[in-house]
Amino acid sequence: MAEKRRVLLTGGTGYIGSHSAVSFVEAGYDVALLDNFSNSSPRVLDRLEQILGQRLKVYEVDVCDEPRLREALASFSPQAVVHFAGLKAVGESVKEPQRYYENNVAGTLSLLRAMAAEKVQDLVFSSSATVYGDPASVPITEAFPRSATNPYGRSKLMVEDMLMDLCVSDPGWNIALLRYFNPVGAHNSGLIGEDPTGIPNNLMPFVTQVAVGRRAKLSVFGGDYPTHDGTGVRDYIHVTDLAEGHVSALASLDRTPDGAPLVVNLGTGKGYSVLETLRAFEKASGCSVPFEIAPRRPGDVAECYADPSRARDLIGWEAKLGLDRMCEDAWRWQANNPDGYTS
Ligand code: NAD
Ligand code: UFG
Repeated sequence: MAEKRRVLLTGGTGYIGSHSAVSFVEAGYDVALLDNFSNSSPRVLDRLEQILGQRLKVYEVDVCDEPRLREALASFSPQAVVHFAGLKAVGESVKEPQRYYENNVAGTLSLLRAMAAEKVQDLVFSSSATVYGDPASVPITEAFPRSATNPYGRSKLMVEDMLMDLCVSDPGWNIALLRYFNPVGAHNSGLIGEDPTGIPNNLMPFVTQVAVGRRAKLSVFGGDYPTHDGTGVRDYIHVTDLAEGHVSALASLDRTPDGAPLVVNLGTGKGYSVLETLRAFEKASGCSVPFEIAPRRPGDVAECYADPSRARDLIGWEAKLGLDRMCEDAWRWQANNPDGYTS
């Protein structure tokens, strides 16, 4: 029997990493996780064991710690790395830019050096629709101009540029840049899900925390956008679909045009407003979610949704699960774990 392909997931105990671990194992990969647990709980490992029926190997390592990263790579000897590890809170990045550049940019450089030293050159990177800044129109294709309005976004732009240059310099690298739209939802077991520390920045975890009684009401940021109901429109994508996008991307790394990185949007192509999302959640959960219209949040754009056709054409992937299912699964996770992994 052929040996299983090994893949190392940095940031693998986080929200998207843990769901991707499930998808990679189900696709037949041998998976190990690497994380410093700065924004995740070791309890994820027990939950993954319940889902998968096997305990995944985990390396407690900071990606900025190159010697320990090398040790982990040498010990597991993966054929590929999926690099989720990073800090992701936009507001925090404005207050602590240096920490964001250290963690997201210097951390990626450290990973690249360790990979080169261990002769691992297949890499899938978590980029973001944030690289499109304030898009001139929607849907957004991969050819749209890129810009950044905050240090988090700039860290993603910098890493994208670094990885593009690396591919030009050495055709041995095979790299995918996956630009995620708005990941929401949870594994349908209700055992793993999104567990933000403190007050959630993102809409869906805020809504589920109101529904479960942890917060009094939702503030809808802006009721006067030029959208059909005045609230912001986003492309919400089920985290399980997103996870499967990584499996498809890794299997298609050799299809990179002229050795350049494979750049694809991972979104559904459908935009929903905040109020539509709220109504879908109320229907799926049977809970009513009190809200008030509040001022716009600085830096937010009116509308952001993907043209997902390149992902379909290049990596054979498309999102399958709709907004109702995203809301049902987000609610199952929150209702079963009212305080997240500390429940
Ligand atoms: P998350 O915070 O749940 O997961 C990130 C994981 O990386 C955490 O487990 C954290 O402990 C770990 N980590 C952070 N810094 C590390 C370091 N220096 N060394 C080792 N581990 C480290 O976030 P997520 O939502 O799963 O996001 C994963 C990736 O996807 C991030 O790079 C993020 O920027 C990107 N992304 C997320 C979204 C989103 O809305 N969730 C959207 C676009 C892109
Ligand atoms: N919103 C509210 N109230 C809240 C939270 C959000 O009304 O309490 C609104 C926002 O104004 C926006 C929509 O809900 O219209 C979605 O907001 P999120 O914070 O959930 O998501 P964003 O689109 O602002 O940002 C997300 C990630 C970023 C990433 C970006 C890429 O958090 O890291 O998607 O599109 F860069």
